This record gives sequence, structure tokens and C-alpha cells, in this order.
Amino acid sequence: MIHLEKVTKQYDNNSYTDEFGVKNITLEIDSGEFVFFVGKSGAGKSTLLKLITKDINPTSGDICVSNLLLSQLGQKQLPYYRRIFGIITKEIGLLENKTVYENLELVMRVTQQPTKTIKEKIPKALGLVGIKQKMYVYPSELSEGERFKVLMARAVVNNPLIVVADEPTANLDYETAWDIMNIFNDINKLGTTVLIATHATQLVTVMKKRVITIRDGRILSDVTKGKYGRVL
Ligand SMILES: Nc1ncnc2c1ncn2[C@@H]1O[C@H](COP(=O)(O)OP(=O)(O)O)[C@@H](O)[C@H]1O
Ligand SMILES: [Mg+2]
Repeated sequence: MIHLEKVTKQYDNNSYTDEFGVKNITLEIDSGEFVFFVGKSGAGKSTLLKLITKDINPTSGDICVSNLLLSQLGQKQLPYYRRIFGIITKEIGLLENKTVYENLELVMRVTQQPTKTIKEKIPKALGLVGIKQKMYVYPSELSEGERFKVLMARAVVNNPLIVVADEPTANLDYETAWDIMNIFNDINKLGTTVLIATHATQLVTVMKKRVITIRDGRILSDVTKGKYGRVL
């Protein structure tokens, strides 16, 4: 479902610094997989996720997602391509002057879904992350963990094929982070492919999922349902 073939991202072609995001990555991820990308800060995890969602384009190599060769997607097709994904990032935060319900409603309106569907799907998505009771409150009334759960609900409300999260448990206490990981697991169980970049190695180990370790822009190890850090 996701295939990267010899993908390299060099951020600044003209500089002498050789700012490589990732180098020569070849990788295959099947539909329904749960994958952790781990590695130190600066390893290339975010670059890899951004290449997959086509936030950035590779300097060389091919990326194919859901049978689409990304280099052939035009600007006009990009919004449709992005519908494959539920992207969880704090960079796209909640609108503070809208309720939780309205925040989710907005992303559903973008895809022109009928009101009936919207009314059905929002409580469902909030139920999945366990905060249905917060449907009509404003973000300011939510804890950090609850806010994150709303971001998760917003990411899944349009039934994406792939959910992508970059450092989802950063700034959360261990218990909340664990709670969040279990919700990712529930989302994955429904058939959604889950891609998570993180350096929360303790949680990753417990989850027993596929773990791809990145170092200096390259894949150091790729372990299925294994322990974090084992080198192939
Ligand atoms: N927009 C950018 N411009 C230049 N260099 C970048 C940019 N984004 C990331 N990099 C560089 O690419 C490398 C990988 O970064 P990143 O993918 O953010 O790593 P991670 O998410 O694992 O911390 C780092 O050396 C970083 O400095
Ligand atoms: Mg990062």
C-alpha cells in the first residue's frame, strides 16, 4: 500500500552543508499495518512522514501510495490525495472559538458530507477516543490529553485509510500516553493503517508492533512485532 523506492530528501541542494532528511530509503508497508518510526531527534522521522503525505517531495526516488505514484500527482489532485490520510499534528490545532463538535464538523464539511452523516459520525469518532461527553465543550475546557484525543477523533472522522501521527505522546504523562497508544491500537483494529513517529521507546516496546529505526536518514533496523532497538 505504501512503497518507497530509493527515496532521498535533500533539503537544500545548493548549500555545502548537505542537509539530508532521508537517504536512499526503500520501504514497504502493507494495508492495515501498525508501524512505529523511532530514532533520535534529527534522524529523519518527520521527513519520512511528510514524504508519504506529500507535504514535501523527494529529491530522488519514487513513492507510491494506494497505487498512486506521488510524482505524478498534480497540485489539483493534492487535496484528494490527502483524504487518504488522517494527520494528527499539533501544528494544525483546534479552533478555540468552536466546540469539539464544531471542530470535527468543519473537517467533514470540507469533504461535502451530508448533515445526516456528520451527525452520525462525530459521536462515533468521539466515542472511539473515549470523550463523547465532551462533544459540546470548548477546547479551553479540555485537558492536554483530551485535546489530543479530539485531534485523534478529527483525524479519523472521515474514515481515512492511513492515520499519521508525529510525536503524538510528547508532553503527555505516561498514563495518558499509554491511553493514547491504546486508542491507536483500536483505530488500527478497525483496519486503518497507523504510522507513528516517536521517541517514546518505552511505550513502543510494550506495543509489540513493527518498529523501523531511523538513524542519520537511513533505516537502521526494521523489526516486525519485535522489541525496540534490535538490529537486523
Ligand atoms: N525544512 C528543513 N530544512 C532543512 N533541513 C531540514 C528541514 N527539516 C528537517 N531538516 C533536517 O533533516 C534532518 C531530519 O529531520 P527530521 O525529519 O525533522 O528528523 P526527526 O523528525 O527524526 O527529528 C535533520 O538533520 C534536520 O535538520
Ligand atoms: Mg520529528
